[in-house]
Amino acid sequence: MDQNDLGTDIEKVLVTEAQIAHRLTEMASDIDRDYQGRDVLLVGVLKGAVMVMADLARALHSPVRMDWMAVSSYGSGTKSSGVVRILKDLDTDLKDQHVLIVEDIIDSGLTLSWLLSNLRSRGAASVEICTLLRKPEAVKVELDVRYVGFDVPNEFVIGYGLDYAERYRNVPFVATLAPHVYQ
Ligand code: XMP
Ligand code: MG
Repeated sequence: MDQNDLGTDIEKVLVTEAQIAHRLTEMASDIDRDYQGRDVLLVGVLKGAVMVMADLARALHSPVRMDWMAVSSYGSGTKSSGVVRILKDLDTDLKDQHVLIVEDIIDSGLTLSWLLSNLRSRGAASVEICTLLRKPEAVKVELDVRYVGFDVPNEFVIGYGLDYAERYRNVPFVATLAPHVYQ
């Protein structure tokens, strides 16, 4: 799929397919180096992190395990409330595990700070965060994010796993939508 397939839906491409692929390779080699000799459990946050997880995992040189969680952070509004509900929990016991959370985007950071303490409380040996995208608001929260792909402006973005009303997750780049899509 490319931009032509989407007609006038795209306003601006913020991160191209090639930029994502290149950055994930760099992040993967940092992860390989940092976790050398240790068994890593990648924890993907559904559904947005599916693409990052698939591509990042394949860019790694060491075999890892992968598990998934689904959480809901937004209530009826569009802003994160910090109240998080687990929709699907992990199948893996985290005791003594080196956990690397894989996320699509950190916005307010509230979801991840909740997730971080939740996973830490399960007795993991370590819990770190890897996110493809980070919005400026995220820096307001005391959150130590070990691996960040790109900082993006404070706008709603879609593509590469990110949706608007469940659409556009399969767009291979990250972009903003034209205003008419929201109307
Ligand atoms: P917080 O604000 O708690 O929320 O860091 C992070 C989650 O909110 C969703 N999110 C977005 N989804 N485009 C999206 O499609 C965006 O621009 C966006 N900003 C936040 C996303 O599910 C993320 O995990
Ligand atoms: Mg979403």
